[in-house]
Amino acid sequence: MVIISNYKRYKNEIFDKNKLPKHLAIIMDGNGRWAEKKGLPRSAGHREGAKTVRRVITSCLNFNIPILTLFAFSTENWKRPKNEINYLIKLFERVLNKEKENLIKNNIKINFIGRLNELPNSLNETMNELSKSTRKNNKLILNIAINYGGRAEIVDAFKSIALKIVENKIDIKEINENIIKNNLYTHNLPDPDLLIRTAGEMRISNFMIWQVAYTEFWVTPIFWPDFSENNLVEAIINFQKRVRKYGGKV
Ligand code: IPE
Ligand code: IPE
Ligand code: MG
Repeated sequence: MVIISNYKRYKNEIFDKNKLPKHLAIIMDGNGRWAEKKGLPRSAGHREGAKTVRRVITSCLNFNIPILTLFAFSTENWKRPKNEINYLIKLFERVLNKEKENLIKNNIKINFIGRLNELPNSLNETMNELSKSTRKNNKLILNIAINYGGRAEIVDAFKSIALKIVENKIDIKEINENIIKNNLYTHNLPDPDLLIRTAGEMRISNFMIWQVAYTEFWVTPIFWPDFSENNLVEAIINFQKRVRKYGGKV
C-alpha cells in the first residue's frame, strides 16, 4: 500500500519518498564564486557554505536518506593560498565542535574519509572524538571527505593489498573487484546512487572515482551557499525518472 504522505509535489512533479537514493554524495562547489559575486572574501562563501551543510543534513534526516557523503576538501585543495587553507581548517574544527550535540541528538553517525593523518593534530582529535561518540548512531551515516582524493584512496588500497600479500594473508590470484573495494576508505558503504555537483562544473575533480562507476550524476549551476531543499528535491525527482541499466538490457 502506498501512503499518500510519502509524496510531495515540486513544480508539478512528484517527489516519491519511497524511491530515494540510499547513498547521496555531493561535491559542494562554488563557495568562492558565490562570495566573489557579492564582492565578499572567499572565506565568507565558505562560512555560508557551512550553513548549507546543516540544511542538507536536516533534509536527509527528514527524507530518511540513510547515507550522505560530502566532499569538503580535496588532496589538490592544498594548492590554494595559505590563508584560505587555514581558514577552511579552522572552520572545519569550529563547525565540528559546535555540532557535536546536534549529531548525537539526531542519531547521526559521522565518519571521515581521506588522508586524515596529514591534517593538523587538533582537527584529528576533534574528528576522532566525534567518530567515537557517534559510532553507535544509525539514523544517518554522514561521511565527510576531507583531504580526500580518489587517486590517493586507490594508492592507499594498493598499499594495503600489497602488505597483505607480503604477509601471506592473501594471494595475488585472489585479487578481484571485491578485494579492491574492501580496501578503500569506503569499504563498509554501498556506492553512491546519486552524485550532485553544485556550481556547474561537469567534472569529477578526483572524487570517489572507483565508487561512481554506475552513479547517476546531477549538476546544478546553483552555488553551494545558495543550494536549497527545493534544489535537492529537484535533483532527486530527476534521479527518480532515470532508468539504471548497469550495462544490461532493461
Ligand atoms: C568549494 O568551493 C569548497 C572547497 C573546495 C573547499 P570553492 O572554494 O571551490 O568555490 P569556487 O569553485 O572557487 O567557486
Ligand atoms: C572539488 O572542488 C573539491 C571540493 C568540493 C572539496 P574544486 O573546486 O577543488 O574542483 P576544481 O578545482 O574546480 O576541479
Ligand atoms: Mg571550486
